[in-house]
Amino acid sequence: MDIKMKELQLESDDKRYVWHPFTQMRHYIEEKPLIIERGRGSFLWDIYGNRYLDGISSLWVTVHGHCKEEIDRAMIEQIKRISHSTLLGLTHPPAIELAGRLVKITPEGLNKVFYSDSGSTAVEVALKIAYQYWQQKTKEPSLRRKFISLKNAYHGDTIGAVSVGGIDLFHGAYQPLLFDSLKVESPCCYRCNIEKTYPSCGIECLLHAEAVIKKHHHETAALIIEPLVQGAAGILVSPPGYLRGIRELCTRYKITMIADEVAVGFGRTGRMFACEHEDVAPDIIALGKGITGGYLPLAATITTDEIYNAFLGEYDEFKTFFHGHTYTGNPVACAAALASLDIFDKEETLLKLKEKIDFMQSGLKRFWELEHVGDIRQKGFMVGIELVSNRDTKETFPSEKRTGMKVIMEARKRGVIIRPLGDVIILMPPLSINQKELEELLCVTFDSIQCVTEKK
Ligand SMILES: Cc1ncc(COP(=O)(O)O)c(C=O)c1O
Repeated sequence: MDIKMKELQLESDDKRYVWHPFTQMRHYIEEKPLIIERGRGSFLWDIYGNRYLDGISSLWVTVHGHCKEEIDRAMIEQIKRISHSTLLGLTHPPAIELAGRLVKITPEGLNKVFYSDSGSTAVEVALKIAYQYWQQKTKEPSLRRKFISLKNAYHGDTIGAVSVGGIDLFHGAYQPLLFDSLKVESPCCYRCNIEKTYPSCGIECLLHAEAVIKKHHHETAALIIEPLVQGAAGILVSPPGYLRGIRELCTRYKITMIADEVAVGFGRTGRMFACEHEDVAPDIIALGKGITGGYLPLAATITTDEIYNAFLGEYDEFKTFFHGHTYTGNPVACAAALASLDIFDKEETLLKLKEKIDFMQSGLKRFWELEHVGDIRQKGFMVGIELVSNRDTKETFPSEKRTGMKVIMEARKRGVIIRPLGDVIILMPPLSINQKELEELLCVTFDSIQCVTEKK
């Protein structure tokens, strides 16, 4: 088959055989698919050799860029030894070493690492651990069977994670399958549900959270939160003090606090973990996405000794945590994660990031010139630019106009890959991106928004 034929075959086979996630396939198959063949640094190349800037870190995971030599090498070295061995009753050096490293870098008190393989499973594990912890903590069966979560929350797509989700578009269809989760207001300042303005509001949404917690703490196993940023809801950045306030409420009312750092962990917000910004130590942390530098599926749920100890007992007490995925703690993924952590140290990734965050922040100011930009939200290297039909009233564009989608297709024509969440344009570049590439990302995004929203 000649080269051109091979490419056409791939395109038709993709439409014929592949069901893409979060994708309306009826529309997808009408377009020419973009087939990515290789990557290096901040860039991706398609099968025709066209180059694209990876403006969303291949779904928020690529930390040090694509084909990072040190990670490639660590994985190859590991593959030469062994590619997979189970953690069910056995162990292996990369899982042991990585667990120790994770305990050292995560907030104080998180000492026991349970591996899985995606953000959703890390959350699922956290929920099940919290539930079982309360059931086993005392001799009497506990009444604590509920969870508290936030409106607008996204914690993944498995049924437990969906139960604590709060985005109707993604979660509504499964409602009858879900377990009870009590919802508190989202700390979203742009569209504040209690119609207050920060900082004069004094973070009044915390009072709402307190009312729910106060009423239900006796029957609640855990509260789960995306620290600082509700990512999938459109980069909703919570006001300073909110996370700390939630920690204090969980402590006061004695409920387990789960921090879902799947999206915000590993440097995304400018610190290794978002909880660090407010000096918060959760009882359970869920990690995924950037943990391997964006190379392989791996996730970790880390708990305190207090929680772990409630699972210890004789075999016939059945206190074991009966959970474990086949590829849990895969050695090649753990080797990639260790290499990624080494790069954080060696290249001072977080130190260098500060300047890039500032650069991005000043570059984003220009976006206010665009009349349909309603809000610009940034926390570290997470950016959401919300497009509205009317900036004064915050009225949204009709969803059938697919404004966000049109913007990202314009950006694609200009050699940049980004993704919208509704009409919020998300920028989430690799932490390793350089200033020139950042400039390109900002310029193309600006032009694409302008082209779509100001077309006469
Ligand atoms: C906060 C948060 N939790 C969990 C998940 C689910 O992770 P995964 O897609 O790896 O299952 C995501 C994914 O975007 C997320 O943003």
